[in-house]
Amino acid sequence: MMTAYITLLAAAEALSAPVRPAKLEICALCHGEDGRAKTPVAPNLAGQNAAYMERALHRYRTGQREGDGMNALVRSLTPEEVSELVAWYAAQNPCGPQP
Ligand code: HEC
Repeated sequence: MMTAYITLLAAAEALSAPVRPAKLEICALCHGEDGRAKTPVAPNLAGQNAAYMERALHRYRTGQREGDGMNALVRSLTPEEVSELVAWYAAQNPCGPQP
């Protein structure tokens, strides 16, 4: 009984933890692997609302929003890659103000 419960917990954990996106290294240069920004101009993404990030990235793709290098970057990714990255950053622990 206990074993079954633990197995279930482990399965739930595996489901909720997003896979490490293949393209994470690119974004990590500015936004950090854990969503804590590495440059003074890049925003923190840790724990940011996933729907909001999807919409922001869609707007960079279509040019409705201009954002330094973000427009060209997003256009170099497939929508699936973008969704993986959004899921990753949304799952990171939110952080306080940038240093
Ligand atoms: C060269 C540095 C750099 C890289 C690399 C980079 N970003 Fe950004 N990102 C920025 C900057 C600067 C902004 C703010 C641009 C603006 O004013 O709209 C931004 C904005 C964003 C936003 C919108 C945040 C908000 O609060 O509206 C998201 C989401 C985002 N980036 C995701 C990503 C993802 C995913 C990647 C990897 C594919 C990535 N970024 C790579 C610099 C970068």
